[in-house]
Amino acid sequence: MNLQETIYKRKSHRSFYEQWVGEETLADIRAFFDRAKRLYPEIPLRMELVEREQVKCILPFVPPQCIAIYSEDSTEAWENIGFVFQQLDLYLQSIGLGSCWLGLGKLPDAESDFRMLLAFGHSKEALRSGKAEFKRKDLSEIADVEDARLEPARLAPSAINNQPWFFVHEEEKLHVYCSTRFLRARALGKMILIDMGICLSHLYVSYPETFTFWKEEAPEQKGLTYIGTIRI
Ligand SMILES: Cc1cc2nc3c(=O)[nH]c(=O)nc-3n(C[C@H](O)[C@H](O)[C@H](O)COP(=O)(O)O)c2cc1C
Repeated sequence: MNLQETIYKRKSHRSFYEQWVGEETLADIRAFFDRAKRLYPEIPLRMELVEREQVKCILPFVPPQCIAIYSEDSTEAWENIGFVFQQLDLYLQSIGLGSCWLGLGKLPDAESDFRMLLAFGHSKEALRSGKAEFKRKDLSEIADVEDARLEPARLAPSAINNQPWFFVHEEEKLHVYCSTRFLRARALGKMILIDMGICLSHLYVSYPETFTFWKEEAPEQKGLTYIGTIRI
């Protein structure tokens, strides 16, 4: 299964076997991370494998290994994390592993640029069988004009599944916005920015030849915060 197809089948996995992922697969995962597209190529970003014993998490399903993500603490860096590691989430599930973003996970001994954990491993759960299994907003709720090209964005995962994205068309461009209310919700912290990067990554994966992202003077929208503009 390729990454595009995985968008329509993936899910958050919350039940893992104790078996470790082998060295060869880990090398493939690192290589995929190196070649994954960046939303902001100039922002430093790195990953490290960590063991469950290093992770502090109230959730009962943490697998034997996790990926720790390190970057700067800026708006763009958090969006970049979502953009790059959602490609990795799709890659992991495309090769038969399970994965789950772990916003509730902490890494007590981590360096100060630690930002996020991604759980992964041999999953006890199956992928989704199709689109009907996704609990998501309708296409008409995520854009000013219903646009079937946004289906991969519609299916993107978000930290508490609140799908904070909204698209506004202007000729061939799409301005991308985030719900200001969710952006300001303290409990969610920077995870909303990761969500925005995740949503954009599904569009990049679906339209790799044409996807471009930049910032410009976009029209203000009530209740929404501008993130950037894309062409797909
Ligand atoms: C940034 C981020 C953080 C998340 N943190 C957690 C978490 O700590 N625990 C958990 O069980 N799920 C977590 N999730 C998974 C979401 O709850 C899940 O993606 C969402 O409900 C949609 O479901 P799906 O991924 O199965 O499509 C997180 C997802 C994202 C994008």
